Amino acid sequence: AKNTPIPEPRGIPLLGNIADIDSTNSLESFTRLADIHGEIYRLRFPGSKMVVISTHALVDEVCDEKRFKKIPSAVLIELRAAVHDGLFTAYIEEPNWGIAHRVLMPAFGPMGIRAMFDEMHDVASQLVLKWARQGPNVKIHVAEDFTRLALDTIALCSMGFRFNSFYTEKTHPFIVAMADFLTESGRKPQRLPIGSFFYRSQDQKTEADIQILRNTAQAVLDERKSQENSQRNDLLTAMLKGRDSLTDQKMSDDSIIDNLITFLVAGHETTSGMLSYTMHNLLKHPEAYRKVQQEVDDVIGKGPVTVQHISKLAYIAAVLRETLRLTSPIVIYPMNPIEDTLLAGKYPVSKDDTILSFLSKSHLDPNVYDDPLTFRPERMLDENFNKLPKNAWKPFGNGMRGCIGRAFAWQEAILVLALLFQNFNFVMDDANYVLRHHQTLTIKPKDFCIRAILRDDLN
Ligand code: HEM
Repeated sequence: AKNTPIPEPRGIPLLGNIADIDSTNSLESFTRLADIHGEIYRLRFPGSKMVVISTHALVDEVCDEKRFKKIPSAVLIELRAAVHDGLFTAYIEEPNWGIAHRVLMPAFGPMGIRAMFDEMHDVASQLVLKWARQGPNVKIHVAEDFTRLALDTIALCSMGFRFNSFYTEKTHPFIVAMADFLTESGRKPQRLPIGSFFYRSQDQKTEADIQILRNTAQAVLDERKSQENSQRNDLLTAMLKGRDSLTDQKMSDDSIIDNLITFLVAGHETTSGMLSYTMHNLLKHPEAYRKVQQEVDDVIGKGPVTVQHISKLAYIAAVLRETLRLTSPIVIYPMNPIEDTLLAGKYPVSKDDTILSFLSKSHLDPNVYDDPLTFRPERMLDENFNKLPKNAWKPFGNGMRGCIGRAFAWQEAILVLALLFQNFNFVMDDANYVLRHHQTLTIKPKDFCIRAILRDDLN
């Protein structure tokens, strides 16, 4: 077959395509370039080059772990300054990835996640109480409150640590340091290559943020080690006590700290984004909203939500899947060819090309989804979801580097939505709100606000 060159926006000497990508809104830039160049295009930056793919067929091809593997992209390499070879940011060859993966898989499995239900319920109830107490006249910034919820939940369930975000006026220093560090990691790869001197004070601030993250995690670890009789059975216990089934090794303290921070980073914005977009979709689609409320009333009624209810809320699960299709909080994930190869039998790519699967486009592929821009949860009910072509829905990434926290996020999200719809009716604060995205490492709806009115129809 004849090789086809990969289309490429014309860049500028030395700086390549820097001017084509808005570092605070790369989602919009990637989308615009896909609209111009189509299913595949190439970008060059000082020090890295990448290929962005936007159709199901190409994403499916790159999911083949015999031909492609995850190599951390430029942003993930920045994160390594804080979390090194933690699960999310590791190169697959690094032994700590395999050790942590094997030690942690059972803890993230169905039994482990069910055991976390009561603590998830504890934090979710705090959200419900807050919204109930402040009453229907207070504007709720959806993404902010869901971020408090997701962060408190992952910290409590993974390491028994309470940020108490719903009760404290001042944000915990860890949370501030994490937010600043993540923002800076997103920006840094797009810096102009004019020497680090110009960024010295920013780099010092980043160094200090990393210290706060690591010192906080170290304190949690030390505290747990000092409690010899701790009965807790959480992810931290799994990491302290577990042995790798392959090498019989235990995780080092450094690796435990890397992964404690990784869980907080990987688990909070993503889950918060998913929940925030879900609320937006439900408020824009009254029919789906009504079905969610009906399902909660039928399956749970007025009584307590229990772990047994979670798998019975099939319509809510479909709503979440459809939300992740339309607005995947992680919009791209990286894979590199293991050997130089051709994509679709014609586009040449080399080992040092980071191939970015662009979910915000591939999830709208008309070859897979009819009427792809329309929010239609029915297409994601089990019987339809299970018939989707392979790799047509990838919000949790791919293969062995796919999300280890998927079942965790799923249980948490269904529980929260069940509690919310059991207790409240919701309206948009501004009926004319038009969806915009706030982008950091993930996307969330920007300035989307609602009001919550306690239900009185259940008395
Ligand atoms: C990996 C999405 C929730 C922990 C990933 C990846 C994606 C993803 C796309 C692959 C990234 C890549 O290839 O570079 C999501 C979404 C979530 C979610 C959409 C919620 C809706 C969570 C939670 C946790 C978590 C709650 C922690 C408890 C991780 C970790 C990895 C990962 C540790 C790296 C796995 C590895 O490479 O071994 N996630 N995630 N995620 N996620 Fe999640």
